Amino acid sequence: MKPASEECDALADSAHEEFPSRIPPLDLPRFLTREHHRIHLVGVAGSGMSGLAGLLIELGHAVSGSDKVTTTETERLQRLGLRFHDQHRPEHADAANLVVFSSAIKDDNPILVARRDSGKPVVRRAEALAAIMRAKCGIVIAGMHGKTTTSAMTAHVLREGGLHPSHYVGAEIPLLGTNAHWDPRGEYFVAEGDESDGTLCCFHPEHSLILNIEEEHLDFYADLAAIEKVFEQLIDQTSGTVFYNADDPNAARLCAKRKGAVSYGFSEEAHYRGIDVELRDFGSVFCVDRCGGKLGEATLNVPGEHNVHNALGVIALASELGIPFEKIAASLRKFEHARRRFEIKYESDRFLLIDDYAHHPTEIRATLKTARAMGRKRVLAMFQPHRYSRTKALCREFGSAFDEADRVVVTDVYPASEPPIPGISGQTIVNEMVKRGHRGASYQPRFERVHCDIGNALDVGDLVLSLGAGNIHEQLSILAADLVIAEKLKAVVGEEGDVRLYEPLSKHTTLRVGGPAQFWVEPRNEKAFADLIRFCRDENLPLFAMGRGSNLLVRDGGICGVVVHPRGGDFDKIQVNSSEITAGAGVKLREIAYAARASNLGGLEWMEGIPGAVGGALRMNAGAMGAQTFESVTRIRYLDAEGNPHVKDRDELEVFYRRFPLLENNFAISATFRTQPAERAEIDSRLRESQEKRRTTQPIAKSAGCIFKNPAGIPAGRLVDELGLKNSRVGNARVSEVHGNFIVNDGGATAAEMLQLIDKIQSAARAMRGIELETEVEIVGEPE
Ligand code: EPU
Repeated sequence: MKPASEECDALADSAHEEFPSRIPPLDLPRFLTREHHRIHLVGVAGSGMSGLAGLLIELGHAVSGSDKVTTTETERLQRLGLRFHDQHRPEHADAANLVVFSSAIKDDNPILVARRDSGKPVVRRAEALAAIMRAKCGIVIAGMHGKTTTSAMTAHVLREGGLHPSHYVGAEIPLLGTNAHWDPRGEYFVAEGDESDGTLCCFHPEHSLILNIEEEHLDFYADLAAIEKVFEQLIDQTSGTVFYNADDPNAARLCAKRKGAVSYGFSEEAHYRGIDVELRDFGSVFCVDRCGGKLGEATLNVPGEHNVHNALGVIALASELGIPFEKIAASLRKFEHARRRFEIKYESDRFLLIDDYAHHPTEIRATLKTARAMGRKRVLAMFQPHRYSRTKALCREFGSAFDEADRVVVTDVYPASEPPIPGISGQTIVNEMVKRGHRGASYQPRFERVHCDIGNALDVGDLVLSLGAGNIHEQLSILAADLVIAEKLKAVVGEEGDVRLYEPLSKHTTLRVGGPAQFWVEPRNEKAFADLIRFCRDENLPLFAMGRGSNLLVRDGGICGVVVHPRGGDFDKIQVNSSEITAGAGVKLREIAYAARASNLGGLEWMEGIPGAVGGALRMNAGAMGAQTFESVTRIRYLDAEGNPHVKDRDELEVFYRRFPLLENNFAISATFRTQPAERAEIDSRLRESQEKRRTTQPIAKSAGCIFKNPAGIPAGRLVDELGLKNSRVGNARVSEVHGNFIVNDGGATAAEMLQLIDKIQSAARAMRGIELETEVEIVGEPE
């Protein structure tokens, strides 16, 4: 390794030429690899930046970062200690001894502006990476195509060869664990060098591997000559061996003249030469010669001739580092692709989730064909079109590319820096599919809801594919993570229980609004319910109990965690025992009223007018016709927060108007109601009275019953009426003209609209009558 001062000079030299205003007044390699500091990364969510953040955390620094987006990678890094900020605020970087910024960050970024004003050190990502690398023997993999695969392959082969390499690769590589890793035991550091912004010349590696050089990134470079200049500088700055692809004319022209350079490829002049190449569906087999002598045979399990080339480069490099060919060949056989190439995200007997990069109709057809051949029952796909220009140009081909999929959810277009083309969206492709007769296609313009659409449609035996070159895999990852939990929940509630992902709660509330429940769980007996409570407690999963949803306003973002719906099985049982009726939490109050009638028992006729079930009625002490639930309750059975059962008599319970605190943290199992023997005619007359009251004073439309509790002095319905607010509306939420305390859903109303209307009524009551209206309806869930 070079002395620290020399490293620093060399780095400063390169920085002088390229970025004169950003020279760090410090010995960067020492600062980054032998000391511990506070470091802030601007643009930390980028694929390269997140890798650097991971390295810096492993090196023991206190790392913070800012970005306007979060990714699964930033979330992972947060778990490792990254302090993440979703805005670029100078104060978040104030305490940092060094700020590192991504090439994607503009000059007017507030953190960069503040740092420059204060004269504190700021460096580019590549400068930091190059400095870290100088603490080891650096190996840079450079070229226009194949960098990620080849650097991953190199790191893998060196690791299998026992060299404990550190690595930095531009994408997630499952085989390597993470996209960047610092291994203090090893001598080598393998890094993918990015040519797109000229920072390649920051590197002073021991060895470099040049894959190919051609015209690219012409937004940055004037021409091929400018690109070659950067590669030439990298070659000059390489202290050890330059490895190059002899079949690439530009790489060969630049590298061949370099003393000691080692070439690889198919051409006869190559030092390491691939012969007898046999391409297979998902890989290849080929022989390798070194300077005319046979080294052996290699098998690759990644497809395509280009990968044979990449592997030859790795074979040349690893061989020169002293790894025996047999060892190299064994490692190559095990090498799996970089992320996103028919990558299995979840696999069980019941479900299979696969992510693929396919974004061209031909690729999509091929991927779907492979998926079909896997023999699962159905194939469901989430597809994110990539680029407006491609969507427009190939929309007819896209229309026929999905014939092998049973269900396809198409998102909006991933622009990849393109401006939108008017009239072109995911809908364009769905229209084409529908035109061709596809019966399972739908468009979901809200990207973050795609996993919900597919997840809610999931059935045992399904194979799910995410397709596209943008970020659609994130949606599949969310689905995969939730599916792991859903499968555990299924095991908890057993064969008879039911578990569904992302169940739309608008289907389960009488108001017909509300976003999805992350996990919808229906246990069928008390034991399953108790096990579920314990599972949620152990796994830190929020648990919310929901009955008929008649008094519930669920926000549009839905409910995170488990929504338990005790229904069916024991929860639907009614037992009549002389004058007592015991009913499970899932029994509708109306059914109790009629069960009582059948046994000539009276006193529960008022229940006829309540749309909810026992659990909810207990929880809010529901009432009608001047009666309240707990006036009829003799005892209840419930589970506590630990899943333990309890039975309590009425006189042990504290109950208020429309409120029963015990069930705020516990879960109703059943209740026993008191009745009195009565004449059938008398019961029928009271039932009719209740029906009549309902029919004449309450709307038939979709509602959650009364929205507000009756305040002292005046019923809320009359108050709203007197305020002249009947029929007032926000969107499709409207105050009923029949009853002022009902808000009705005229069709497609959102929770946000409901809440705005509630707020409007409360403000008017406050301003005009000095009355605080309290909601009776329970408002839960996340806003959007
Ligand atoms: N009124 C008006 N204008 C209106 C609505 C009502 O002037 O638009 C007057 C009525 O004429 C009546 C008084 O307000 O004189 C009270 O109205 P209502 O008899 O309909 O009873 P409420 O207090 O509004 C209560 C329960 C209902 C239950 C009915 C019938 C509350 C908050 N509401 O309503 O329960 O169905 O009695 O027994 O206690 C529910 O809880 O969701 C619910 C609908």
